[in-house]
Amino acid sequence: QRCVVAVDGPSGSGKSTVSRRLAVALDARYLDTGAMYRAVTWAVLRDGIDPADAEAVAKIADNVVLTINTDPRDPHISVDDTPVDGPIRGPEVTAAVSPVAAVPAVRARLVAQQRQIIAAEPRIIVEGRDIGTVVAPDADLKVYLTASEDERGRRRSAENAADLAATVADLARRDTFDSSRAADPLRQADDAVVLDSTELGIDEVVAHLKALVDG
Ligand code: CDP
Repeated sequence: QRCVVAVDGPSGSGKSTVSRRLAVALDARYLDTGAMYRAVTWAVLRDGIDPADAEAVAKIADNVVLTINTDPRDPHISVDDTPVDGPIRGPEVTAAVSPVAAVPAVRARLVAQQRQIIAAEPRIIVEGRDIGTVVAPDADLKVYLTASEDERGRRRSAENAADLAATVADLARRDTFDSSRAADPLRQADDAVVLDSTELGIDEVVAHLKALVDG
């Protein structure tokens, strides 16, 4: 039967790993909306546009074609037929994504595509910052996944083999920006299940969420 799960939370909270595993466990599809904001940012940098130039950034978002594979075992995203799964995780895109994601016209465009994908895939786990509040307010289950700033920094720096202090600083910078922007800020939905994963393993979090879906 129909099952839309919204997973929101700050950077490094484990959203991606948990969402993918939950999708596999529920035989559902998986949509990483952060990858879409990153893909537009990649196109902005490709075209030599200043990420702070909201008008030019909006034009890019209007013109790029994002192609998304929602298989949780093998998720992919392409921009104008170029696969960008690797480059969108690089430091250049990470440094530029916040201002791009803050442009209302960019959000309008991507939220519309996200809603189309959700409408076409009745069983889907959707992860992001504004899924339970804006993209899919009627989701069957809303999860707000969090973890202490230190733990989130540790996870992300291990993932990227990056310096811990620099990673913590980068996460804090983006969290502050994402939470305080005017357009669709990172916010916990009133009806979200809040899960602090600081002391929980991935398997425990996935099992807990699967039990909530299975009722
Ligand atoms: O994986 P990580 O937590 O580092 O970030 P992400 O989920 O890939 O998202 C990258 C950026 O996209 C975030 O810092 C937000 O600025 C933006 N984003 C957003 O505004 N709305 C979403 N639904 C998802 C991501």
